[in-house]
Amino acid sequence: MQVPSPSAREAASMYGTAVAVFLVILVAALQGSAPPESPFPYRIPLDPEGTLELSWNVSYTRELVHFQLLVRELKAGVLFGMSDRGQLEDADLAVLWTDGDKAYFGDAWSDQRGQLHLDPQQDYQLLRAQRTPAGLSLLFKRPFSTCDPRDYLIEDGTVHLVYGILEQPFASLEAINTSALQTGLQRVQLLKPDISVPALPPDTRTMEVRAPDVLVPGQETTYWCYVTELPGGFSRHHIVMYEPIVTEGNEALVHHMEVFQCAAELESVPQFSGPCDSKMKPARLNHCRHVLAAWALGAKAFYYPEEAGLAFGGAGSSRFLRLEVHYHNPLRMQGRRDSSGIRLYYTATLRRFDAGIMELGLVYTPVMAIPPQEEAFVLTGYCTDKCTQLALPPSGIHIFASQLHTHLTGRKVITVLARGGREREVVNRDDHYSPHFQEIRMLKKVVSVHPGDVLITSCTYNTGDRKLATVGGFGILEEMCVNYVHYYPQTQLELCKSSVDPGFLQKYFHLVNR
Ligand SMILES: *[C@@H]1O[C@H](CO)[C@@H](O)[C@H](O)[C@H]1NC(C)=O
Ligand SMILES: *[C@@H]1O[C@H](CO)[C@@H](O)[C@H](O)[C@H]1NC(C)=O
Repeated sequence: MQVPSPSAREAASMYGTAVAVFLVILVAALQGSAPPESPFPYRIPLDPEGTLELSWNVSYTRELVHFQLLVRELKAGVLFGMSDRGQLEDADLAVLWTDGDKAYFGDAWSDQRGQLHLDPQQDYQLLRAQRTPAGLSLLFKRPFSTCDPRDYLIEDGTVHLVYGILEQPFASLEAINTSALQTGLQRVQLLKPDISVPALPPDTRTMEVRAPDVLVPGQETTYWCYVTELPGGFSRHHIVMYEPIVTEGNEALVHHMEVFQCAAELESVPQFSGPCDSKMKPARLNHCRHVLAAWALGAKAFYYPEEAGLAFGGAGSSRFLRLEVHYHNPLRMQGRRDSSGIRLYYTATLRRFDAGIMELGLVYTPVMAIPPQEEAFVLTGYCTDKCTQLALPPSGIHIFASQLHTHLTGRKVITVLARGGREREVVNRDDHYSPHFQEIRMLKKVVSVHPGDVLITSCTYNTGDRKLATVGGFGILEEMCVNYVHYYPQTQLELCKSSVDPGFLQKYFHLVNR
């Protein structure tokens, strides 16, 4: 980051103040008037208590995002913005503050120490500030890209939103001490793909998979496991859509949910509803790993393309399903009850193609290793031309969604498609990837893969806090580099990954140790 000379900084600050004064808010006496009708398809609570609620929409043609921030119990102001990994230092912020007399809104940035500065260029543009029965509602817009080197570039993939609550007036923006505020972060995909919703078949039926009346433990993290089964004689169906069902009032508590199907070989799976790490959990649940549906905070319904569906039921597939709900309870609230889950929409009229899931990336082996104390170490896995030549139908496959996966040190994941020795297109990329936010994402554009194509998946890791090498494996302290791609028509190829050849690795170490 470029540090301007003191005089430039002073000038910037003066200009910024003028802009802020110009934007002095008239908190109109509109108390009691109905809240305006919502043009925002997306909504998310920012803090665990839900006092800050963000709604937004995306205009791809104008390349900007409209944000509506609802502040339920306004004290003396609020900070909202974005940063690389959710820290309040080096963040790009919109700030609403008061000096006790007037209220101001401005576009600001924080330096490495968390000190705030007004931006010379005001890119968060306030459109409306209104008191509603629910609280203060701020409407502002922000372009994806601002050309201001200090601003955050809004890209596809994860965005770390940050917030802070101002409890008292401050004489100036610069006087705000961020380390003394109540702050936090929320991860979200801001730039959701703008794809049209496919029509559902007329005979669509629904099934709710949810754990009834869970008493959410008063601890920060709980993975709740619940077993349920399909009705007897349930024949083969296609899932064509699914959506979350979140118990009202628990929107900030339910972080993500997945529905898995158990292995077909299991004759039966015992009933269970409890923490996934409980000693009472039946061991057989470890064989329930075939993903049928996955949802994470901020995501909406998931639709299969009109020509494909995900098969379940019938011969050769298990009747048993496992629901996993991740509760994120940083305030350690006691006594909360929850019955969240996922509603599956399915049809007996099978669509033309079965959808499938293919795992791309690196084989989990100890030779997939990351040295300690590395800030950005890259490992790459290949789905080679030989594999795609052998396994894909002549007309190819079509990838429409993707779920990236690493363990704790993963920071970026990208899959690109190469053809004829050249990179052709990006299948999916997340430059702000977080292992704490894994959702199945619809691709903006379906990617067709033909026999002979190569799929290259690269993962970037940060092992700055580790003393020993990190190796590939299933353990949470071991690593993975995976992209689960959702595609049709389904093929026999479930895994298309590579690993480092131990022989070559030995030769390499022999060479470097010489
Ligand atoms: C987003 O919301 C703003 C503010 O209500 C509205 O003017 C705009 O038309 C909306 N844009 C889209 C793409 O929906
Ligand atoms: C900011 O707040 C922190 C924590 O309350 C305090 O230790 C620090 O001295 C404050 N910094 C300034 C410049 O006031």
